[in-house]
Amino acid sequence: MTEQLPLDPAKLPQHVAIIMDGNGRWAKRRGMPRTFGHKAGVEALREIIKMSDELGIRALTVYAFSTENWKRSAEEVGALMGLLLEYFTKELEELNRKNVCIRILGDIDGMPRGTERQQAALHKAIERTQTNTGLILNIALNYGGQQEIVRAAKVLAKRAADGSLDPESITQETFAAELYTHDEPEVDLIIRTSGELRLSNFLLWQCAYAEFYITDTLWPDFDRNAYREALEAFSNRNRRFGGA
Ligand code: IPE
Ligand code: IPE
Ligand code: MG
Repeated sequence: MTEQLPLDPAKLPQHVAIIMDGNGRWAKRRGMPRTFGHKAGVEALREIIKMSDELGIRALTVYAFSTENWKRSAEEVGALMGLLLEYFTKELEELNRKNVCIRILGDIDGMPRGTERQQAALHKAIERTQTNTGLILNIALNYGGQQEIVRAAKVLAKRAADGSLDPESITQETFAAELYTHDEPEVDLIIRTSGELRLSNFLLWQCAYAEFYITDTLWPDFDRNAYREALEAFSNRNRRFGGA
């Protein structure tokens, strides 16, 4: 194996967001049920979290379950919810030891009936790790970017209605302060696996100036090398933010 040069820390993104897509196709190619792909996807996620932590990346946001994913079969949704519970039960202590701060982007309490144990596990993970100062791990779950924006708009509208907020004083900053990611850096790099060229309602606000990295690799195959390639590609981008 050729020796790899270390990644230049100064050129790493502060905030990486990942649309972990392609689990179903990965399983299908192996003649297996979709659930098999989701299980493999959890393993891939574990490594990517570890590597993000090792590299000192400030925030990692992963799309685990969208507000639209409830449309899937009861069997698949049940399997995903089972994996979620298993993940949080098994990994919480280790993530906590690593000083990882777990946050959930999305409507936990709006999850459907039958997911009470998941909801409790999520609240527990947030509480247990909220004062940690290491990697911020955002898990987007029952998450929709449009819903997040509407939620922020409602908070501000209520304040305006009760007289505690002057609508004219609303700025990008005060609006962003009501999003789930309120105090985090904007997304620098967004990765989507499995080759799909769309956002699927992910981080619509936060990705305003994010660099896109799309790979055909299916999520369960997205390993340390694949992540490294994405980070290297990012380090070679010329970001202009509208400037000349
Ligand atoms: C991503 O993989 C995982 C979730 C959406 C939960 P998919 O399940 O969307 O896999 P494909 O896109 O059907 O291959
Ligand atoms: C986006 O993937 C959601 C997650 C990865 C959790 P989907 O597979 O749900 O997106 P579409 O349906 O292809 O747009
Ligand atoms: Mg998909």
